[in-house]
Amino acid sequence: MAAGATDFERLGGEPGVRAIIEDFTARVFGDVMIGFLFEGKPKARITEMEIRFASAHLGAGTPYSGRSIAHAHRASPILGGHFLRRRRILAQTLADHGVPDDIAARWLAHEEGLKGDVLGEGVDPESCDHEVVAERLGPRLGGLLAGGAGSGRGEPEEGP
Ligand code: HEM
Repeated sequence: MAAGATDFERLGGEPGVRAIIEDFTARVFGDVMIGFLFEGKPKARITEMEIRFASAHLGAGTPYSGRSIAHAHRASPILGGHFLRRRRILAQTLADHGVPDDIAARWLAHEEGLKGDVLGEGVDPESCDHEVVAERLGPRLGGLLAGGAGSGRGEPEEGP
């Protein structure tokens, strides 16, 4: 490999990165802990966007054309444990594809730097986006958000 090769080149360019990401998204979509977050989501598009995103930060010189990371995840109820699980799957996938340690370390550090964007942290509480919060929490709080004057414990308003 020529001196000064980018991480992208060292991984075999687009075909190399594609093979890694296709395996990675397959593992993520089928994962017992975080797979449910991808139910009904466009796997082909996400795979393409992940390839472009990774290629860009690996030094391909091609732009990422998807939504910003903060925007793409703002409506998904992703918690810290889900973030850690994705990181674990990525680390395992990189190891299984023989990605050199120095590249894997840079890749994982880059992901770590995006944690706040993925989890929606750092939102100004004074300008709370209630619609987005309701969208994120609604399925888990069930009748509480929709019903208003319930018991406050989440029981259904009407019994069987
Ligand atoms: C730094 C870490 C992450 C990166 C770089 C990343 C990257 C991406 C990219 C590039 C997309 C496609 C954006 C688009 O369609 O324009 C996407 C979508 C998505 N990601 Fe992530 N992601 C990260 C973390 C996570 C985590 C931790 C989860 C959940 C465990 C997650 C769940 C999703 C879901 C569900 C979508 C589809 C959103 C939708 O179409 O509504 N992501 N991600």
